Amino acid sequence: MIHDDIERVLITEEELAAKVKELGRQITQDYQGKNLMLVSVLKGSVVFMADLMRAIDLPCRIDFMCVSSYGSGSTSGAVKIVKDLDIDLHNVDLLIVEDILDSGKTLHYITKMLADRGTASIRIATLMDKPERRVVPLSPDYCCFPVPDEFVVGYGLDYAEKYRNLPYIGVLKREIYE
Ligand code: IMP
Ligand code: MG
Repeated sequence: MIHDDIERVLITEEELAAKVKELGRQITQDYQGKNLMLVSVLKGSVVFMADLMRAIDLPCRIDFMCVSSYGSGSTSGAVKIVKDLDIDLHNVDLLIVEDILDSGKTLHYITKMLADRGTASIRIATLMDKPERRVVPLSPDYCCFPVPDEFVVGYGLDYAEKYRNLPYIGVLKREIYE
């Protein structure tokens, strides 16, 4: 059972559902009359994206991009675009949907790149934020949960491509990754 590898539950299914609904209401208010497009950064944010988009009561488009960072494990170095967006960004109010903001390098790179494509605005919505780990100056416009500096999995987030299908956010047992 994948649950056996979890040290403790950090954020329950109920807490996730409530916060994501609340964020959806906030975005619905803030983006009245705008040209909203949600961009999910694969793969960690797919579950968050799927729930968040259904909590937004506005016309909006969605798209996906996939980036990989050179270097291994949980550290991120330079960023490589594996799959770019399909939709033209001219006059789009872009909301980047991320699973977790760690060093900030990934989002720093992505926002800089997308800002050159004629967007009307770019904001960041992240499910979780580890502010202690920040290397580049970047703060999310929307954040559901600030979390401590621990390795978390579930609700889309992985360790070695596993645990994405856990319905809650859990802290992985140290023996699994050490
Ligand atoms: P950053 O560029 O260092 O901010 O890296 C952010 C990315 O690293 C996230 O989108 C995740 O894919 C991954 N990441 C960072 N912390 C964790 C974690 O605790 N669990 C799983 N993935 C993480
Ligand atoms: Mg990610």
